[in-house]
Amino acid sequence: MERKFNHELMTEIKERWSPRAFSDNPVPEEDLMALLEAARYAPSCSNEQPWRFVVAADQEKLARMREVLDSGNQKWANHAPVLILVAAEKKFLKKGTDNRWCCFDAGTAWGYLSLEAQRRGLITHGMGGFSVDKVRETFNISDRYEVIAVIAVGYYGNKDQLSEYNRDREHPGTRKEIEELLL
Ligand SMILES: Cc1cc2nc3c(=O)[nH]c(=O)nc-3n(C[C@H](O)[C@H](O)[C@H](O)COP(=O)(O)O)c2cc1C
Repeated sequence: MERKFNHELMTEIKERWSPRAFSDNPVPEEDLMALLEAARYAPSCSNEQPWRFVVAADQEKLARMREVLDSGNQKWANHAPVLILVAAEKKFLKKGTDNRWCCFDAGTAWGYLSLEAQRRGLITHGMGGFSVDKVRETFNISDRYEVIAVIAVGYYGNKDQLSEYNRDREHPGTRKEIEELLL
């Protein structure tokens, strides 16, 4: 099904989607840092900036990050040259109380990152399919942090490299109507 836009939007929002056909071309360091900078400038509750990242862009760290992914995600995400774990600091550092908005803020940061990636000709794909326990053990991440998602970042490759199942769903996702979002 085609995506349908009823209003004029910025190009990056219209064109971003979540492909699985990653090429293994490396992402230049400058682009990778710019993506983190985009995330860095997201708004957050009390400007706490609770988002935290583990960036896997070298072979050793990539191998460890791939290990935490569910097997279905490994099939395609193993080709991505960069995998980024998104976590969030659960307490307000200034007050020491629970930060109920930490995941909201980390989600905004990932949104910014993905749009800056789109602007730079990169593709991104968020994943919830991974083992939080393995992440905590592999990267020594304590309970102080919420472990949220792993993001694949890279360039579009060749659709033919995908399994038949993934090839069939290699297209932009459609959306609910605005009316359905209003409570
Ligand atoms: C938090 C989060 C978790 C996701 N988990 C997975 C996943 O484990 N595997 C996968 O293939 N896609 C995953 N996705 C991708 C979504 O399925 C995709 O964003 C959605 O279908 C909308 O499609 P679009 O991004 O192409 O518009 C995830 C996306 C997000 C934001």
